[in-house]
Amino acid sequence: AQTTRIAVTPGDGIGPEVVAESIRCLEVLKDKHKLALDWTQFPWPSHAWHQEHGESWPADALVQLQAYDAILLGALGDPGPLHDKDRYLLSDSVSLGPLLEMRKGFDQWVCERPARLLPGARQYLKDDRAKDIDMLVIRENSEGEYVSQGGRLRQGTPDEVATQMEVFTRRATERIIRYGFDQARKRASDRLKEARTRSFRTFEGHICESQVCLITKRNALRYWGDMYTEVFEEIAREYPDVATHHELVDAACMKFVQSPWAFDVVVASNLQGDILTDLAAVLSGGMGVAPSCNLNPSNTDVPSMFEPTHGSAPDIAGQGIADPTAMLFTTARMLEWLGRKDPVLAHAGQELFHAVAADLAEKGTQRRSTREIGDAVRQRLIT
Ligand code: IPM
Ligand code: MN
Repeated sequence: AQTTRIAVTPGDGIGPEVVAESIRCLEVLKDKHKLALDWTQFPWPSHAWHQEHGESWPADALVQLQAYDAILLGALGDPGPLHDKDRYLLSDSVSLGPLLEMRKGFDQWVCERPARLLPGARQYLKDDRAKDIDMLVIRENSEGEYVSQGGRLRQGTPDEVATQMEVFTRRATERIIRYGFDQARKRASDRLKEARTRSFRTFEGHICESQVCLITKRNALRYWGDMYTEVFEEIAREYPDVATHHELVDAACMKFVQSPWAFDVVVASNLQGDILTDLAAVLSGGMGVAPSCNLNPSNTDVPSMFEPTHGSAPDIAGQGIADPTAMLFTTARMLEWLGRKDPVLAHAGQELFHAVAADLAEKGTQRRSTREIGDAVRQRLIT
């Protein structure tokens, strides 16, 4: 097979620490399975680069990255005061940070954030049914509340007005909802392979093996809420085997805490998905274990980007105590994604997932250093 190439961008704070463990695991897998896999590290985007060059990355950064099959990103954010950190993230030309520029530049229109409470992970909810939490939140990643259009009128005066536009297109709505239904089907068939089943009741009382829940705020944000709902109902007709459900985002927050085990696939807008996935991360054991990816499923000429849900955690950076679990799960997902072209990679991804899950199941929430966790996972891969 042609060599698959990964651009590794460790970023800031704990980013380089957790990325180092991913690389060490990739080395083992590459060696063991003779993977046609290579990676190159980049010192940008990062705060250090920003300090030296006055911008987060070189002008041709996206052009350079486009030559790769995937981007493995640690975390971004200046490990300085919060105020500066936010300024840095938002400091680039089009007023989007490098993270948002990558998503936009490569049209990574899907943000996939699974939230499954695996054995060993911290269980924040007391209810025993929390063990059944297994959802996939799919966040629309290309438009909506993140289009960054608007401005400040009469800035600094008592009459100031700030506007922030939200844009929702039917095209982007259709593709994200269809992606959600396809993932629901895929999850049902993956569960069958593991001899696990779940059941969801449709409005008419049929039982389905998967479900898609659409999130909106259509009682207040009418226009896009109605369009989302219409598109959802149209596409749902093509998937009679998948149960459908609709929640308003505020009620969804409540139900994520009250009965998160009742959700399967959840499709949400960019901002609502952003908020819900922090909540979902906690339901599955916290930021230390929550993977994430930014995918472009429709164009194989541009790289998708893989970064955990967590940030650069400046408060613990440099101490070697960050949990690399989320990064390792994210790396496993990257290999599975790349495995669409090369099945050996997909297999390596599953192996990595199982090694990380087994480590979590055995050691649970024991305090361990970044390296200790990385070593334990590596050991499982070697043997
Ligand atoms: C995330 C982050 C980003 C987002 C920030 C850093 C711009 O919160 O990936 O969830 O809002 O998308
Ligand atoms: Mn977020």
